[in-house]
Amino acid sequence: MDLTNVIKPLLISGAEVLPLVEGGKGIAISDGVSSGAWAAEGGIGTFSAVNAHTPGEGYLCVPGAYSSRTRLKRHAEMIERAISGGVAQAKIAYETACGRGRIHMNVLWEMGGVDAVLHGILSKVKNMIHGVTCGAGMPFRLAEICAKYNVKYYPIVSSARAFNILWKRAYSRVSDWLGGVVYEDPWLAGGHNGLSTNEDENVPEPHEPRVRSLRELMRSYGISDLIPIFVAGGVWHLNEWENFIGNPEFGAIAFQFGTRPLLTVESPIPMAWKKSLFSRKKGDVELNRFSPTGFPSSAVNNVFLRKMQARLKRQVSFTKVADGVCTEAFPLTGSGSGTSNREVFVKKEDIPNINAWRNEGFVVPLVTPSKTLVFVSEDDLAEIERDRRQCVGCLSACKFSGWNQEESAQIIEPDPRLFCIQNSLQQIVITGDVENALMFCGHEGYRFAEDPFYEGGYIPSVKELVARIRTGY
Ligand SMILES: Cc1cc2nc3c(=O)[nH]c(=O)nc-3n(C[C@H](O)[C@H](O)[C@H](O)COP(=O)(O)O)c2cc1C
Ligand code: SF4
Repeated sequence: MDLTNVIKPLLISGAEVLPLVEGGKGIAISDGVSSGAWAAEGGIGTFSAVNAHTPGEGYLCVPGAYSSRTRLKRHAEMIERAISGGVAQAKIAYETACGRGRIHMNVLWEMGGVDAVLHGILSKVKNMIHGVTCGAGMPFRLAEICAKYNVKYYPIVSSARAFNILWKRAYSRVSDWLGGVVYEDPWLAGGHNGLSTNEDENVPEPHEPRVRSLRELMRSYGISDLIPIFVAGGVWHLNEWENFIGNPEFGAIAFQFGTRPLLTVESPIPMAWKKSLFSRKKGDVELNRFSPTGFPSSAVNNVFLRKMQARLKRQVSFTKVADGVCTEAFPLTGSGSGTSNREVFVKKEDIPNINAWRNEGFVVPLVTPSKTLVFVSEDDLAEIERDRRQCVGCLSACKFSGWNQEESAQIIEPDPRLFCIQNSLQQIVITGDVENALMFCGHEGYRFAEDPFYEGGYIPSVKELVARIRTGY
């Protein structure tokens, strides 16, 4: 069935717009150009304000991008430049949209200096941005910050439970500025996923009951059914979502796309990345736990992720003094092991594995926060040390480098089994090397190869994509 006349505009962030949203994608994966183009088609475009860059000034986290020598100073520099980058992207989006649709901005609650970046951008873009979406963490302060600048706020949650906590602790006091709630399926969406500890990554749950319980919770707090829920994660053809469209049971529903908009003319990702999407197969995208934020995330299982997975397997437990289990003395040679001990003790049965890894070139043992040794190559060590040295404090707390922007906070033991997400996310955008960097993607990414819309490697404009989505396909 053609849905063009079925999908009706909704009042979102102060205007009647199509309930079709390009989700925010960092870093530099949804920008002023792509979000402005979505808004120009009457929908909602979301640019990423996570280390947004000012066009012509280069990306923010590449080696050599910072003049400051200390991490604290680089962190301050990063915030300053992220604010000007965010303002620049907002202006581009605003000008591209020509007054149509709505422009939203996306931030990661756990990014470094999130309060400063939000205040810095929002104070300079009056009337250009209509809403802020924010996930990855519990964005309690989001509501009051947005209210200060008269913009709507949109928490991204993966369960009614998460919204309940946000509402009770903070949002109920700033309810007028709640623009909507993004429900992001933690088993299907690309990027970081909000799987909670009581949810099994291998047992996905269907959308409907989860969205229903979110709506029921919202109603129980007196939140109008006109406040939309943005359904995100795994949305491809809208004719597969007919039960959500115009169904009073769910109240107002908008659909948020993250993966489909990667493949448009306006999408800022490199052509090599766009082309690689045509050959994705079912199961290529996997949930992994290597992000230094501590959140699981969904990305293509490429050389980069396989390397991280292989590293995990080269691990043994150890003790600092011999006990009944770890009996074999093991010298800690080489730099960067992460302990001042010159020798530790490992299990006898692990010695053959250690020798085999060493023969393959994984000669450097590094201590992990789980009290294990992980074996890496000299090149890996150089990369880990370089990334830690160049750290700009892009997160509020980083499990890879041990950085914490709260000086008084508990010390985080750096974990060499993780990686610098800033560096990797920027590398893929800059180099287009789709094998050797983190490539976020939704689990339905394989559908590019199957969907006749993309036949012959066709890359649509945002205008064509939005028109196509409206038909239900
Ligand atoms: C490459 C990529 C990067 C993303 N980055 C972010 C991000 O920085 N912040 C965020 O809130 N969501 C991010 N997302 C999630 C999207 O905004 C969107 O909610 C999600 O992709 C929807 O699911 P889908 O991938 O099945 O379309 C990202 C998604 C992708 C595919
Ligand atoms: S090491 Fe961690 S905090 Fe530092 S730039 Fe990389 S991801 Fe960000």
